[in-house]
Amino acid sequence: MNRVYIKTYGCQMNERDSEAVAAMLRARGYRIVGDENDCDIMLLNTCSVRDAAEQKAIGKAAHITHQRKKNPDFVLGILGCMAQNRGAALLDQLPDVDLIVGTQKFHQVPDYLDNLRAARDAGVPIGETIIDIAEEAGSQNTIKDHLEPQAVEGGDGAAGGLVPQVNAFVSIQQGCNMDCAFCIVPKTRGDERSRPMDDIVAECRSLAARGVKEITLLGQIVTSYGRRDYTHTNGISPFVQLIERVHEIDGIERIRFTSPHPRGFKEDLAAAYGRLPKLCEYVHLPMQSGSNRILKAMNRPYSRERYQEIVDSLRAVRPDMYFSTDIIVGFPGETDEEFEQTRQLFEACNYDMAYIFKYSIRSGTPAADMGDQIPDEVKEHRNQVLLNILRQNSERRNAALLGTVEEVLVEGPDKTGQRFTGRTRGNRVCIFDANPRLIGQLVPLKIERSSVSTLYGELQLAGVDGPESSAQSQTSAQSSVSSLSGAQL
Ligand code: 5AD
Repeated sequence: MNRVYIKTYGCQMNERDSEAVAAMLRARGYRIVGDENDCDIMLLNTCSVRDAAEQKAIGKAAHITHQRKKNPDFVLGILGCMAQNRGAALLDQLPDVDLIVGTQKFHQVPDYLDNLRAARDAGVPIGETIIDIAEEAGSQNTIKDHLEPQAVEGGDGAAGGLVPQVNAFVSIQQGCNMDCAFCIVPKTRGDERSRPMDDIVAECRSLAARGVKEITLLGQIVTSYGRRDYTHTNGISPFVQLIERVHEIDGIERIRFTSPHPRGFKEDLAAAYGRLPKLCEYVHLPMQSGSNRILKAMNRPYSRERYQEIVDSLRAVRPDMYFSTDIIVGFPGETDEEFEQTRQLFEACNYDMAYIFKYSIRSGTPAADMGDQIPDEVKEHRNQVLLNILRQNSERRNAALLGTVEEVLVEGPDKTGQRFTGRTRGNRVCIFDANPRLIGQLVPLKIERSSVSTLYGELQLAGVDGPESSAQSQTSAQSSVSSLSGAQL
């Protein structure tokens, strides 16, 4: 009765929280399973950023509670942002949920499940749903060290057996104080709180010791990291100081972060791309809108001109920089002309990747009460306009890589289990044949074919024929990659 299935909705932060919950549950003797039809406990880690995300999780929970009537011992829990946002009100729609746990209480989940199980074992009927959505001082620190990198099941495919973890998300802060007019996150994630730098560095070190090669520093607004706890030194912000310290860790080969805010993207961070070679040339920089009036209404304190300046400054440091962004189309009052401004800036920035959202009313946020909501068909049209530009950009950027050799971090088997997948420094997904021993290695890949979203190629393992490489050939592969990245820098 201890098989737990965790389903995660939403952002990487949620993925990270689910991993932490899984690690804590494993440590208590629970089994984390990958098949939702074969579990005793189901936990939905939810997202509130748009209404559709909430409706999806509610639909899932309703379906599960309906099914589980067959099995009274089954436990269903709702965790994370929607639990925080809606709390006990969820019971109006989902009276049979056993557990509702908010974003500052993930670390309590094992205790609550233990209690539920003990009660059931003792034959005590569980009358009331456990609801815990309180704030907790220091909750940003409860998430640390819960992540035990685990080899994950690789299935019976090309990799066979267990696949070691090669990349990890590391939470550096929680919450957000920016108060963007559209955004529910300050409500669901609370005030901005940073983890101590030493703790983060220690976590990265222990991940490196276990074979992790790529770290993504995670926070709602990473450029504000530590602003209340640390001072600038020689014009270097605490966030860049943190990157410098992670950069010093042997074994960590790549560093990424998400998400920065344009307001905090200062010269010290742009310059870091010129001097810290492990910092990958990929930046996710949310624009939201290219209209100065809409940016103001959104309470985003930068202009389209300043945004473009940041992009230009990064391309000046790294001409091969890859960019992605977040855009909201159809913010209340957005006119055709204002959308046209967004379209133009979107085109000018030449994004390789973008997340384009139709504005979704989030009750309790300032934008929810603004008049002049935009009809859905207008939002849909604007969405398609940007998607078309993105598709062309992405296709063009991938096609330009044909015939070149890219450094790829081999992550594991692809979806088919027959081939392997990895990503370039620019975060492009690649598919190729490889030897399982190459998982976790940086290898040169010659790009032979491309689609909008994926690159296909052949590993360039000096002196050997690709997949059947020996340990010795892996060393030579690595050294040729070092010279490759040396040449890029
Ligand atoms: N409607 C649509 N998109 C939203 N986002 C945040 N709130 C909303 C909303 N109410 C988008 C923003 C943010 C991303 C994570 O989600 O673009 O950067």
